[in-house]
Amino acid sequence: MRVLGIETTCDETAAAVVERAEDGRGKILSNIVLSQVSEHAAFGGVVPEIAARAHVEVLDAIIAKAMGEARVDFDRIDGIAVAAGPGLIGGVIVGLTMAKAIALVKNKPLVAINHLEAHALTARLTDGTPFPYCLFLASGGHTQIVAVRGVGDYVRLGTTHDDAIGEAFDKTAKLLGLGYPGGPQVEKEAESGNAQRFALPRPMQFRKDADFSLSGLKTALRIEAEKIAPLSDQDVADLCASFQQAVVEVVFDRLRAGLRIFKSRYGAPTALVAAGGVAANQAIRKVLHRLAFESGTVLVAPPLELCTDNGAMIAWAGAERLALGLSDGLDAAPRARWPLDEIAAAKGAAQRTAAYK
Ligand code: KG4
Ligand code: ZN
Repeated sequence: MRVLGIETTCDETAAAVVERAEDGRGKILSNIVLSQVSEHAAFGGVVPEIAARAHVEVLDAIIAKAMGEARVDFDRIDGIAVAAGPGLIGGVIVGLTMAKAIALVKNKPLVAINHLEAHALTARLTDGTPFPYCLFLASGGHTQIVAVRGVGDYVRLGTTHDDAIGEAFDKTAKLLGLGYPGGPQVEKEAESGNAQRFALPRPMQFRKDADFSLSGLKTALRIEAEKIAPLSDQDVADLCASFQQAVVEVVFDRLRAGLRIFKSRYGAPTALVAAGGVAANQAIRKVLHRLAFESGTVLVAPPLELCTDNGAMIAWAGAERLALGLSDGLDAAPRARWPLDEIAAAKGAAQRTAAYK
């Protein structure tokens, strides 16, 4: 089965063709990602209207490139998968409208994919990871710990009450006058900094639940920076190192709580799976390895280009759904908000309805 995947929920315009064999193995035939980072850099973050316009301008060319590199035409495609949310609504509408047009003209099934579900299922494309596993998704927009129990069967074990982890890195970078996106810059500065110099809080530490909160950490950092302004290069490095160390310890504590909840409810996970741009951070990656080892499981961290937003993960989620006979109508709605748990809730409701029929 071959599926075209389209992703336009944030600041990457992406399309890919993925193949799923009968035995469930996946193969990426093409994976084209065009990042808009430079168009948003001047604003220190993604500007929704600029993003939507940029998607419109390039999406058709990106799809053509993905089809060309995969050496397939639409006759050899079995379905069109598109991220229908959650995300910036303008971009989501661009991708979804394009996917519907192709599905209609080429008479192919449409699969409206939850972007978070696509992140959640990527480990099955890259590593064939069996269910159930524990997902740690940390990007600029999301911070979630999820029990992935099956296709369409997700239980959120923890989330952030305010900022996402990547967002906290980006805001820290902005405050310290570093570039955007902030994560890689903060990590680089931290290398030459003293992580012990500033006593920053570890929000939510030791709580039984697996939730995060990062806005207090960001505020504490700002207060420390204001106390010693103007900042020298060494001050910036020390602030970055202290901030990163706090995040690392928070991730360790919160994820350990998440794994504990996972085990008590579902038994041992087959893996701890990392997704999202934050997983590129070496200090965080180290902690994930340690946690997986401590909990007697393995860390599955897909290659970075598949951890960050891409079309292959959307195509793969589409293939997994199509293989189960699941697809969507041309009335599928774009959604700015779309919690993963809701898929599980909707599926449960559908099964209950079916049982009555
Ligand atoms: O998954 P992603 O590419 O895009 C979405 O947000 O959907 O993640 C980007 C986020 C940004 O907030 C960026 O600052 C963060 O991931 N990030 C990092 C690192 N590389 C990227 N955060 C910490 N350390 C890094 N090395
Ligand atoms: Zn994402």
